Amino acid sequence: MGYRVAVVGATGNVGREMLNILEELNFPVTEMHAVASRKSKGIEVSFGDRTVKCESIDSFDFSTVDLVLMSAGGDASREWSEKIGKAGPMVIDNSSAFRMDPDVPLIVPEVNPDAIKLATKKNIIANPNCSTAQLVVALKPLHDAAKIKRAVVSTYQSVSGAGKAGMDELWTQTKAIYGLGDARPKHFPKQIAFNLIPMIGAFRDDGYTEEEAKMWAETHKILDPDIQLTVTCVRVPVFVGHSESVNLEFDRPISPDEAREILREAPGVLVVDKAEADGYVTPIDAAGEFAVFVSRIRKDPTVENGLNLWVVSDNLRKGAALNAVQIAQLLDETGMIKPAGGYRTLTV
Ligand SMILES: NC(=O)c1ccc[n+]([C@@H]2O[C@H](COP(=O)([O-])OP(=O)(O)OC[C@H]3O[C@@H](n4cnc5c(N)ncnc54)[C@H](OP(=O)(O)O)[C@@H]3O)[C@@H](O)[C@H]2O)c1
Repeated sequence: MGYRVAVVGATGNVGREMLNILEELNFPVTEMHAVASRKSKGIEVSFGDRTVKCESIDSFDFSTVDLVLMSAGGDASREWSEKIGKAGPMVIDNSSAFRMDPDVPLIVPEVNPDAIKLATKKNIIANPNCSTAQLVVALKPLHDAAKIKRAVVSTYQSVSGAGKAGMDELWTQTKAIYGLGDARPKHFPKQIAFNLIPMIGAFRDDGYTEEEAKMWAETHKILDPDIQLTVTCVRVPVFVGHSESVNLEFDRPISPDEAREILREAPGVLVVDKAEADGYVTPIDAAGEFAVFVSRIRKDPTVENGLNLWVVSDNLRKGAALNAVQIAQLLDETGMIKPAGGYRTLTV
């Protein structure tokens, strides 16, 4: 028993990780289809020990599959996800296109699995932004123990969060600078090699960026609209792994030891926190891992009931592909993936 699955965006950073993780977690697959843009038709991608030839999104018949993992960017999602959902399969959408749609659940399985019930409205479930996913996994267990009133978050986001083009730019720019070549920025607004950029996404009228606004809006939808959250998002010259400096104010005192104990028991979290030279996690340590790592847990004496944390995770895994596959597992466990062309009826 298994499902007919299509990964759309299969040649991309996230799509390739989706294929890897579906295999790593033994998700029940009877048929795997890799889908990308027309230009990638025929390109081979790996799925376990097999290779799958990419099909073009324009000619793929989505009514022949049961589940679609969509990771081809916002424009492709806006064009395709609703049509695919109407054709039958359940769509797990990785872009920002549907995250704030009231008829689409936005899910991090460790945090709000019950929201899955809403999925049949459009047959779409949204996967959050990479920085939001790791943040809410770390905040949820603390928020359950002592309400978080306010959070101040600064991110240190790797270039893989900006897709293949982002990784290529860091690589070619670094080589160009060593070799006296052309290091002018093409994908990022400024030079990323040996630098960092405090702008991710376009600026809004309020002076924040789109990425910053996504983080507070998504955290409110997934975890709690009453948490006051302010964010600064920064792109850093790291290939994989997003880091976050997180300052929290609670409604009751909570000691670093109590926080460590709560987080040690929390699903999806690994605490690595010793005041030693290697007693904390860096992006390189987190790359390729499933967990959200929490380090540097300490009291903030400048506010009432304050704590500081350092939160690191692989943005292509928990921040994207792993979370999507966990949602697929949740759909499987709750019997919500129905055979395409079978007996599913839409509630819209
Ligand atoms: N990277 C992260 O950390 C992260 C985290 C959370 C969410 N996301 C979201 O995941 C999505 C993909 O990100 P990524 O990092 O994997 O990007 P990427 O490396 O640039 O890959 C993009 C993929 O989408 C395909 N694609 C682009 N336009 C398409 C179209 N019109 N029709 C069909 N396929 C199309 C590309 O196919 P071709 O190769 O044929 O062009 C490629 O497979 C984005 O929505 C992004 O916001 C990314």
